[in-house]
Amino acid sequence: MATATHRIPGSASNIAYVPADHEPVLLPELLEVLDLEEGQTVLDCTFGAGGHARAVADVLGADGELICVDRDPSTRERWADFAETAPCRTRYLQANFVSALEGLRGEGVRPDSIYMDLGMSSMQVDAWDRGFSYAYDAPLDMRMDPSQEMTALTVCNEWPQQKIARCLSEYGEERRAGAIAREIVARRPLSTTSELVAAVKAAIPPAERFGRGNPAKRTFQAIRIAVNAEIESLDLALPLAWERLPVGGRLAVISFHSLEDRPVKRFLADRAKGCVCPPEIPVCVCGREPEAELITRRAIAPTPDEVDRNPRSASAHLRCGLKLRFADPTEAGS
Ligand SMILES: C[S@@+](CC[C@H](N)C(=O)[O-])C[C@H]1O[C@@H](n2cnc3c(N)ncnc32)[C@H](O)[C@@H]1O
Repeated sequence: MATATHRIPGSASNIAYVPADHEPVLLPELLEVLDLEEGQTVLDCTFGAGGHARAVADVLGADGELICVDRDPSTRERWADFAETAPCRTRYLQANFVSALEGLRGEGVRPDSIYMDLGMSSMQVDAWDRGFSYAYDAPLDMRMDPSQEMTALTVCNEWPQQKIARCLSEYGEERRAGAIAREIVARRPLSTTSELVAAVKAAIPPAERFGRGNPAKRTFQAIRIAVNAEIESLDLALPLAWERLPVGGRLAVISFHSLEDRPVKRFLADRAKGCVCPPEIPVCVCGREPEAELITRRAIAPTPDEVDRNPRSASAHLRCGLKLRFADPTEAGS
């Protein structure tokens, strides 16, 4: 594995080094909104190649701890490399971040900051045989955790046509969802990514087959999100993560499309809301105080420079909230 490092332009010198084969998205911005301090405990819910983790670990120092989670077992080796030279204590959990957060609740651990960098990693896309990419011919798999039963084969070969169409429309925002679902069902059984690409191409008008980008991109995104239950995991994880933070703790999420950004935005905005009395009531009777301060009033997007360097960052959005109080003060002790 590459251990060479390179500097991220624009970041402070003590946080500048990451693996040469991976550039973490919105790194200086993430560090700024988390406002970490030496000696803190931090939870990285999506370790991936450890790009964000390395920079965070540099800030935490020898007295700090970085808990690293990823549902993809192939990240364990990356973490082991990271752990060899990490400047802070670190441990690794191969798990969905939902179960990792539940486990930390069981242990009574309260990280000072929690962050998530959603979606798939470039390593997953580049592992040709895992079926994430329409660019390689591979079995229809797309599982982040290969021990999970459901694969892209399940979606393509077992789901009813209507359900496939809904998935493509909702998770892929695919205009031709109905036609593509019909074509997938007509071509069953599908077994490879090339067969799925061929089904998409056959379902759309010829003029759209050769436009900008691969016409199967949205279909692959939708099926991957469904296979890995990505939106369900995020919906479950946000309240668990928030509950784990101490007062003064921060939750930051980097998302890559509106399906992910919307629930994060709504979740933080709800917590930042104070009085919810109807406007016709002159004096507040609900007594509700905001639980959160929005560190990012609007989502932070990458700079044009970052997008030039790393086109994958183009659709990234970063949001962060600071916990002001426990909704239920009895939770503070758990
Ligand atoms: C965009 S990559 C993270 C990259 C990482 N921040 C870095 O700098 O190298 C997303 C990672 O999150 C993992 N992941 C996605 N959803 C997850 C979930 N629900 N639970 C745990 N890990 C998840 C994926 O397996 C992938 O490795």
